[in-house]
Amino acid sequence: MGSTHPAGVQNSGSKYLPQVSSKNTNISPNQQLLPLTTKINSHDHLEVGGCDITTLVQQFGTPLYILDEETLRTACRQYRDSFKHYYQGESQVLYASKALSCLAVCAIAALEGLGIDVVSGGELYTALSAGVSPDKIYLHGNNKSHEELILAIQSGITIVVDNWYELHTLVSMKSSVIGNMTGSNDPIRIMLRLTPGIECHTHEYIRTGHLDSKFGFDPNQLDELFSFVSKQSAINCVGLHAHIGSQIFERQPHRDLALVMVQWLSKAASLGNAMTELNVGGGLGIKYTESDDPPSIEEWVKPICEVIQEACAVLNMPLPKLLCEPGRSLIGTAGITAYTVGSSKVIPDIRTYVAVDGGMSDNPRPITYQSVYRPVIANQMSAPITETLTIAGKHCESGDILIKNAQMSKTKPGDILVVMATGAYNYSMASNYNRLPRPAAVVVANGEANLILRRETYQDLIKQDCLPERLKSKELGVSS
Ligand SMILES: Cc1ncc(COP(=O)(O)O)c(C=O)c1O
Repeated sequence: MGSTHPAGVQNSGSKYLPQVSSKNTNISPNQQLLPLTTKINSHDHLEVGGCDITTLVQQFGTPLYILDEETLRTACRQYRDSFKHYYQGESQVLYASKALSCLAVCAIAALEGLGIDVVSGGELYTALSAGVSPDKIYLHGNNKSHEELILAIQSGITIVVDNWYELHTLVSMKSSVIGNMTGSNDPIRIMLRLTPGIECHTHEYIRTGHLDSKFGFDPNQLDELFSFVSKQSAINCVGLHAHIGSQIFERQPHRDLALVMVQWLSKAASLGNAMTELNVGGGLGIKYTESDDPPSIEEWVKPICEVIQEACAVLNMPLPKLLCEPGRSLIGTAGITAYTVGSSKVIPDIRTYVAVDGGMSDNPRPITYQSVYRPVIANQMSAPITETLTIAGKHCESGDILIKNAQMSKTKPGDILVVMATGAYNYSMASNYNRLPRPAAVVVANGEANLILRRETYQDLIKQDCLPERLKSKELGVSS
């Protein structure tokens, strides 16, 4: 399709298409910019999961989150199968649902055999409501409320204890309230979150004795911690957890983490705690731009398994059940966001702004982390890249810029602009800033699109508002 363009002018669509071929079916989703099923169809439109994006937009409106089921399922399978292949012990992959928590996504992950990592009562309630088995749900958080802890205990999930306050709270809750409430004398199933002193800044990392992190027990507290835990009948501590960061491209930090965690397990055993589970967290990065080059899912899993197996052999320890909890690398590439192009503003010799009908409320990552994304125009995929445009949101905030200086094709009002790799930390971090209703989300597969999150309405926006009686006035046309 690009052959009609003058030499040196790139075609906007095909440049970003996934490198899938019949010979290469094992492609790692996190190494692609667009979902695995992406095509340019005969109308020169972007197609994902067999659905023409322009048709989806007519049906569901914009902004619209579109999730490719095949890409998500492929990532789930690659994690699951890589652990099966490289690890001789038991393993369990958990989906870090903070990346995108909703019933449909929890259900897909569970159907692929994954468990779910949750960090709040709301995420826990969502996972349980999707039918995820409680023995595959793990609750994190550095300040879990009593209400959240009670829901966790009543549901029979595993609590990843973050600090001394929580540990003491659980022990006292068990002896006072919980036994009566649940009628069960089973100890509470917990893991301990430790801070390994490995700090990652995306593409580099530092190893320190201490880490300035709000999460987890400090490594210099291990003796005291393990001794305390071994004496508590109210809790059953089954293992250790650590998570060192997100959007990580290096493999060495997780190798170091795996080694240090086996050493901790060995220490725990020497202090009377026979723990059987090890959770190495998440963190594998994804490709947001052409220059991003993350390892594949398999390349991430393999060294972790190798280090743990070698270390256990050296220390003469049984292999623990190995868990990990990726979020972004499971769902990030599966998602795209479609917007309608509206106004533009040309500032000669400075910049051209093109505005879309969403922005920082549906994707807060650019304004929060200066994250960089790539766009395409879904209704003219083979148009040549001739423009440098800055894609602005519609919020009342100068910093509401989705993509700065994007290299793309010419665009006009009514075009459908798609931002790639928005599956993770977009909907889940979305807000109603400026009282914009949250967009809808659909899952696409085999030419079918199903709504998984309804678009909010203006009525939804005022649903939680309360107008005190004394402010209801005939003057304003509102009577009680
Ligand atoms: C405790 C924990 N586990 C897992 C994750 C998922 O990380 P990622 O989405 O980078 O895989 C996070 C996210 O930061 C986290 O805080």
